[in-house]
Amino acid sequence: MKHFELLQKYLSNLNILNVKLHNIHWNVVGKNFIKVHNFTEEIYDELFEAFDEVAELLKMKGVMPLSTAAEYLENATVEEVKARDFTMSESLDMLKTDLEIMRDMATEIRNTADDEGDFETVAMFEDYVASFSKHIWFVDAMLG
Ligand SMILES: [Fe+2]
Repeated sequence: MKHFELLQKYLSNLNILNVKLHNIHWNVVGKNFIKVHNFTEEIYDELFEAFDEVAELLKMKGVMPLSTAAEYLENATVEEVKARDFTMSESLDMLKTDLEIMRDMATEIRNTADDEGDFETVAMFEDYVASFSKHIWFVDAMLG
């Protein structure tokens, strides 16, 4: 089915973002350090849980999930960033870009799965979309 390919890309993004959000979590600097530090932790914990859920969803559909770091890098649509000091606004800008990519992708997967009658995937991805929307709201509110 068409959305299986999208699910593999989504899985790859979850893996890369787990690493990237740790990078921001460790390297954000400035007087709002603790806010961004804690916020990124909340998000990477959630993405890590979703990483397993999405891989297991693929298994349930009889599809072998991508399972190596090399495959994740090759298939991800989010971009990695080298470690350095990140200001709060740089950190939030990066977060916002990636959260929007994930929300758009989750929406596309939800809609494609719906066209194909795959209601399990629809249900799971409706929750993901809602969660990304909430995080994007938080980032916007912090950016002021
Ligand atoms: Fe930590």
